[in-house]
Amino acid sequence: MHKVTTLNQFIIERQAEIPGATGEFSRLLHHIGIAAKKVHREVNKAGLVDILGKVGSINVQGEDQQKLDVYADKTFMDELRASGECCGVATEENQDIVVFEEGLSKDGKYIICMDPLDGSSNIDVNVSVGTIFSIYKRISPIGEPLVMEDFFQPGTEQVAAGYVIYGSSTMLVYTSGNGVNGFTLDTSIGEFCLSHPNMQTPESGKIYSINEGNYVNFPVGVKKYIKYCQEKDESTNRPYTSRYIGSLVADFHRNMLKGGVFLYPQTSSHPTGKLRLLYECNPMAFIAEQSGGLATDGEQRILEIKPEALHQRVPLYTGSKKMVQKVQEFLTFFN
Ligand code: AHG
Ligand code: MN
Ligand code: MN
Ligand code: MN
Repeated sequence: MHKVTTLNQFIIERQAEIPGATGEFSRLLHHIGIAAKKVHREVNKAGLVDILGKVGSINVQGEDQQKLDVYADKTFMDELRASGECCGVATEENQDIVVFEEGLSKDGKYIICMDPLDGSSNIDVNVSVGTIFSIYKRISPIGEPLVMEDFFQPGTEQVAAGYVIYGSSTMLVYTSGNGVNGFTLDTSIGEFCLSHPNMQTPESGKIYSINEGNYVNFPVGVKKYIKYCQEKDESTNRPYTSRYIGSLVADFHRNMLKGGVFLYPQTSSHPTGKLRLLYECNPMAFIAEQSGGLATDGEQRILEIKPEALHQRVPLYTGSKKMVQKVQEFLTFFN
């Protein structure tokens, strides 16, 4: 009989990895798991319940808020508050940080940056979407967390990071600094079960993932790299295959399993890139590096960028080590 390790069992077994953790981190991740199951339930009923489509409001990003954006934001917020271990949260759907005053939360050891529903444009067309989270220890001593001190920590300070992918199965993938592990939701018992221990990003691959609709305004190095991917050269396994889902979590997850590179450069509509540093690029960069991959903004490691704004956007090049290094070569040479 195959031994099943649930997320909760795994967290407790690995609790010793978190410096000074005495159960708080385990409780935090447990509540994230509960919220993920609730969002899974709504994503899988979408169409049967009133969860599709727009709310009719615009979020701080200037995007039409989807009902599932709002539902996921509230669900994760409620669970993080209930955990009592988190004193504040920054999410894509809230202009400012949300501070948890009540009860224990006020002195919670952790702060979280979160994209509650990633890939919103794919919700109504039944394509995989995700949730992304990034966990830091608070630096300010007690009381209300401070944006500058607690939320503008560089990605290297993350205690943990992870994502949920709501796809053909629902998986929770996370790292706490000692490798990356993937858990698949077994709906028959309502538990995330270890299915992908010690995930490794293949050093190279044949997939490049970019929205070529923005080609005209890409940096020259990116344009040259795309043509490089399309040239025939059997010795380097080219031409590559183009795959673009439009949900960062889904494109990233596929590349981590199969090998590949994801590129979101600066474009005319997003001159510093579209993806947000705090709750998309940093958590994915932590996971990329922890699984043997790379993540840069075209000049430096994503994790070393000093944040200056909650919704700051940066270019993102991430995935297989050798492929990201090749992109870097083109960006540097054609700069
Ligand atoms: P979100 O739905 O959380 O706003 O994120 C969408 C992001 C990301 O998931 C994806 O990689 C990217 O937007 C796709 O952007 P384009 O549609 O411009 O390619
Ligand atoms: Mn997103
Ligand atoms: Mn989102
Ligand atoms: Mn959005």
